[in-house]
Amino acid sequence: MAKRIEDFTIRENRRLSNDIFVLEISGNSYLPELRPGQFVEVRIDGSPETFLRRPLSIHDVDRDTNSIKLLVQIAGKGTEKLSMLKTGEKINIIYPLGNSFSMPEENEHFLLVGGGCGVAPLLFLAKHLLVQGYSPEILLGFRNRDRIIELDEYQSIGPVYLTTEDGSKGEKGYVTSHSVLKNEHFDRIYCCGPHSMLQAVAGYCQRNNTECEVSLENLMACGIGVCLCCVVDTVRGNLCTCTDGPVFNIKELKW
Ligand SMILES: Cc1cc2nc3c(=O)[nH]c(=O)nc-3n(C[C@H](O)[C@H](O)[C@H](O)COP(=O)(O)OP(=O)(O)OC[C@H]3O[C@@H](n4cnc5c(N)ncnc54)[C@H](O)[C@@H]3O)c2cc1C
Ligand code: FES
Repeated sequence: MAKRIEDFTIRENRRLSNDIFVLEISGNSYLPELRPGQFVEVRIDGSPETFLRRPLSIHDVDRDTNSIKLLVQIAGKGTEKLSMLKTGEKINIIYPLGNSFSMPEENEHFLLVGGGCGVAPLLFLAKHLLVQGYSPEILLGFRNRDRIIELDEYQSIGPVYLTTEDGSKGEKGYVTSHSVLKNEHFDRIYCCGPHSMLQAVAGYCQRNNTECEVSLENLMACGIGVCLCCVVDTVRGNLCTCTDGPVFNIKELKW
């Protein structure tokens, strides 16, 4: 898939909490085909310390407004700079990058699992699955009720199962302790979130004979397979998370 380097315009920069925001950006030319799991590399302008672009998942796509949404958690200087962008300002991105989640097979019972701001690629995946005629079920985990984001969006797509670590909303604990995973068998799980969560979900899938794809967020620089700073150890040898991933079947990963 051809990569583009383009200026987008900020349509909206909406705060969801003190460190999480959604950037809605619109392109001047028609958006190409975009697939769930893919990401963009954002140039951070006016910040000499952050000369490397920052990778961000495609959170949502709106063809009517020709726009992409990015769900961003402030982690350092680059994301903080992005949090200050105002409507009408420009942002330069390279996209679409990386591979994508595969579609379920016919009659497969599947679940989307996400935690914290790591849920970013799940919304686009859930909407895409719905449009393709599937019925997504979604399991989300957050630290506490104040950290829950975009619940309504997911509830408008399908059944949502919820956990918080302190039990302030939904079931108490991590996503892997939710009763839905004990009471039902899933043929396939799609997962994104913190590394420890990916590993815990992968363990569950191995024990329960469940196909599982995870989206990795390894440190990246170039985003196009040149610098090799994002390599991941797999049964096929060292692969680049940016070009061979970020989505991997857990059977491929050595972790
Ligand atoms: C494929 C991919 C998709 C991503 N999608 C999203 C997304 O949709 N929303 C989002 O908020 N973040 C996402 N990230 C993580 C995001 O790229 C980093 O948080 C960001 O680059 C940090 O930049 P910074 O300048 O703000 O912080 P820095 O000053 O560069 O780093 C601050 C801290 O964040 C850590 N960090 C830097 N890069 C990463 C990374 N790739 N993963 C985890 N920790 C990192 C650093 O080690 C450091 O501790 C994604 C990462 C990848 C690889
Ligand atoms: S980020 Fe440079 S090779 Fe992957």
